[in-house]
Order: sequence, then structure tokens, then C-alpha cells
Amino acid sequence: MEERVKKIEEEVKAFLISSKEDLENFRLRFISKKGVVTSLFDDLKLASVDEKRKLGKVLNELKQLAEGKFKLLQETVENSNSIASDQIDLSLPVVANKTGNLHPLNLTRYRIIEIFERLGFNVSDGPEVEDDWHNFTALNFAENHPAREMQDTFFVEKNPDILLRTHTSNVQVRLMKNQKPPIRSIMPGRVYRNEAISARAHCFFHQVEGLYVDKNVGFSDLKQTLYHFAKEMFGKETKIRLRPSFFPFTEPSAEIDISCLICHGKGCNVCKYSGWVEIAGSGMVHPEVLKNGGIDPEEFTGFAFGMGIERITMLRYSINDLRLFSENDLRFLRQFKSVQ
Ligand code: PHE
Repeated sequence: MEERVKKIEEEVKAFLISSKEDLENFRLRFISKKGVVTSLFDDLKLASVDEKRKLGKVLNELKQLAEGKFKLLQETVENSNSIASDQIDLSLPVVANKTGNLHPLNLTRYRIIEIFERLGFNVSDGPEVEDDWHNFTALNFAENHPAREMQDTFFVEKNPDILLRTHTSNVQVRLMKNQKPPIRSIMPGRVYRNEAISARAHCFFHQVEGLYVDKNVGFSDLKQTLYHFAKEMFGKETKIRLRPSFFPFTEPSAEIDISCLICHGKGCNVCKYSGWVEIAGSGMVHPEVLKNGGIDPEEFTGFAFGMGIERITMLRYSINDLRLFSENDLRFLRQFKSVQ
């Protein structure tokens, strides 16, 4: 009998249970009143007193082993069945996936593109690593213009001819070289200048260049285009102001200001108490630049402008530190919705 107990003990240990059915079979064989363990107890009744003492203990241990295993596996099998198909609640609302946000500079870039696309401008692209000719010479920069000096321009290695573009105006030149007028294009992109990083300056930032070359393009077209842009971007009440300025590649040149969105002209620290904030440089494309682009200045005229995406974004969302755009602080970035 001792041997039978041993054998059944082995059997209990080896019995694999992975479903409700297995569990029931286990119960019938080892736990139920008709099972093998009960029948061993029945046999024990016939044994001698000595044997009863000895085998009683072993049999009790076997019973406990079987019951312990049954209890443990009963819980596991039942838990794993709690997500059985008949228990899935199809009416539960879906937990939405968390999507990221667009970067505020991208939100502004997309809005700028949208406004100009409605005026018939397309979007062009150009290289950030540029040669001197496209970034400076073709744009009529004099040989000794201070912008070429090391303090403003990042040169690539020791080659003074290859540099990181200091503005998006290089794309103007590439467009004129590759296309015939009419050209009506905006060119967003990243630019680099060797400046100390602070709340108001950074060694890289973003611009959107604009170029319109056709027959009879006049200064009034430039003014009206940028006035329309300012109202679309900042609201109908926005006024613009043009100040005479100088760029080697435009003549005449003008700086574009908009009325201060914060104080509406009364004066505050955003507009430095002037009531106006600068948003772009602009002007009529210089005849020399048209020539360098392979366009006859006797036949065609054009206007160009360049605006800072950071500056516009800061005005749009009342942001006062340029560094926030490149620090990737999620507390900052999560404040911007994906919709414009
Ligand atoms: N490239 C000029 C700048 O970076 C802006 C500009 C573009 C001015 C086009 C006039 C025409 O400041």
C-alpha cells in the first residue's frame, strides 16, 4: 500500500493543468469521494493498528498535497478565463492613444504657408550648407561686407567657400537660376549665425523667404501682400508700417513692423514702448541680383521678403525666451495643440 501511495503522489505532482477541463479531471481523480485518495483511505480501514499509524500520516500528506495543488490551480485557471471571449465588453469606450503635438515653430510655419498658398505662392526648399556665391556674392554683398566675417558666419572646416547659410535668401538665387518668371514662392528653413545664445538670440533660427518675380511687379504689391499677411496672421485690426532700410540684394529696402499686439500701440516692454514690432525685412529685388539669377531686369521686376519664424511665434503665443524652442522641455511643448 505504501507503494501505491508513492505512485499516486508522483501522479499528483506530474499532473498538468492548463484548462478548466484538466482541473475537473484532476478533481475527479484525486479529490472527489470516488477518487483514488478516498479509496486509499477506505483501504486503510482494513490495515493493522501499526500500519494505520504509519500510513495514516502519509495518506494525510497526500490528501493535503492534492488539495493544495487543486486550490492553487483553480485560482490561476479561473483568473486566466476571466477575459474569455464571452466576457469581453464591446461597449466599453476606447482608450485614446496619446498623440504628440506639433512644435510651435511648425504650427507657425504651416500657418504662414497656408496664408501665402492662398495668394498663389508655392513652397520651395534649398540647402543649409551653402557656398559663398549663393549666400552672399549673387546677392550683391560687397567683398568686404561685415556679414561675411567669421563672427557672423559659420564656415565649414577651413574652406571659406562653404558655409552654413546665414539667411534663406540663398534659395531666391537658386529659384531664379532654375525657373523662369513668373516666380511666386516662399522658402521656409533653418539658418545659422555665430551669435551668443540668449533669450533674444540663438546660433540657429528659422526664416521664411518670399520671392515674387514677374512683369510689372511693384512696391505696392509688396506692401499689400505683407499687409494681407499681417492681418491674416495676427488679426484684422493689425496695422503695418514700413521703415526705410538697407539690404545689398534689394533696392529700395524696407523693414516691416506690425502694430504691437500686446498693448495696441500704447507702449509696453514687448514693443519697447514704441507701439510697433519688427517682423520682416523686404524690398524690390536688386537688378544685379536678377541678372545673377539669369533674369533680365529690363523685362522683369520682383519683390522679396524674409521673416523670422521664431519672432512671429513669440508674438503669436506671448513667448519671451527664444531658448524655449530648442530645449525640448515637454512642459513647454505640451501646451501647443496639434490644431492650428
Ligand atoms: N535676408 C534678410 C535677413 O536675413 C531678410 C530679407 C530677405 C530682406 C529678403 C530683404 C529681402 O535679414
